[in-house]
Amino acid sequence: MYIYVLGSAAGGGFPQWNCNCVNCSGVRHGTLNAKTRTQSSIAVSENGIDWVLFNASPDIRQQLFDFKAAQPARALRDTGIKSVVLMDSQVDHTTGLLTLREGCPIDVWCTEMVHQDLTSGFPIFNMLKHWNGGLQHHQINPHQSFKIKDFDQLEFIPLIIRSAAPPYSPHRNDPHDGDNIAMIIKDHKTQKQLFYAPGLGKIDDEVMAIMAASDCVMIDGTLWSDHEMQERGVGTKTGQDMGHLYIYGEGGSLSYLDQLDKPKKVYIHINNTNPILDEDSEQFAILKKHEVEVAFDGMTIEL
Ligand code: MLT
Ligand code: MN
Ligand code: ZN
Repeated sequence: MYIYVLGSAAGGGFPQWNCNCVNCSGVRHGTLNAKTRTQSSIAVSENGIDWVLFNASPDIRQQLFDFKAAQPARALRDTGIKSVVLMDSQVDHTTGLLTLREGCPIDVWCTEMVHQDLTSGFPIFNMLKHWNGGLQHHQINPHQSFKIKDFDQLEFIPLIIRSAAPPYSPHRNDPHDGDNIAMIIKDHKTQKQLFYAPGLGKIDDEVMAIMAASDCVMIDGTLWSDHEMQERGVGTKTGQDMGHLYIYGEGGSLSYLDQLDKPKKVYIHINNTNPILDEDSEQFAILKKHEVEVAFDGMTIEL
C-alpha cells in the first residue's frame, strides 16, 4: 500500500494564521528551521491511482493541488479520490468536504456518532444534499472491520478511541463509542499493516498490541508536553482536556514507542506549539535518537 501525507499539522495548521508563538512567528519570518504544514489528512492506495482519503482537511484544495497522483485526468472532470473516511467530526477533519462539493456524490465512511454530529451541530451532510446527491453515508461499525469498493487488497479495522466529541456536538459532554476512531489498514497482498491514530488520548494494552503488530504507526504527535499550550502562552487547555496524549516524559507516547521493535514510527497531527517542528531543537534531536520520524506534508510511505 501507498501512504501519502496530505497534511501533518493539528487544527490551525503551521503557522496558524493568527498565532505569533515562537514557532509560528519563526517559520513565518524564515528564522526557524521548520517546514510549514497543512491540517491533518492522509491518503492510502493499493495501486497508486485510486485513493481513500482519511479526513477532509480545510486545506484540501491546496493539498490536492500538491498531490499530483490524485489527479489521474482520465476525463474532463476526474479524481483519484474514491472514498473518504472520517476519524471524528472535528473541524480539521471534516470541513474539506465543503471544498469537494463539485465532485458529489461522494462516498463518506463514518460512525453513527460522527454522522449524528454532521447532521446536527455541524450539518454538512444536510447542506451538501443540494449538490448532486451530496455525501453518501456508509456506516462504520466501530466494532467491525470493513471493505471499500474497488479496494480489494485492503481491510479497514476501526478502533474506538477515548477522546472528546467537538464543541458543537450535541453529546459533547457525554462520550460515546465511535466519537473518535483510529484505524488499522491491512494490506492482504503485501501482508503489511498501518496503524493511523491522529487522535490518541491513551495507550492501553490493546493499542500496544496493535502497534507491535504493525509495520508502520502514525500516531498523535499534537503536543510535546501536556501543559504546552499554557507554557507557550496561547491557551489554557491541557493535552488531556483535548484527548491528546503528550509525547515526552513519564507516561508519554514516546515511552510506549520505545518498547516497539517492528514498526516504522511516525508522529502526525502536530500542533503549531510543538517544539519538534523546529528541526534544530533539542526535542527534534531526541526523536531522531529514538528513531521516530516527524510527518511532513508530501511524505510518502510504501508498505
Ligand atoms: C483537535 O484534534 O483537538 C483539533 O485539532 C481541534 C481543532 O481542529 O480545532
Ligand atoms: Mn485535530
Ligand atoms: Zn503558534
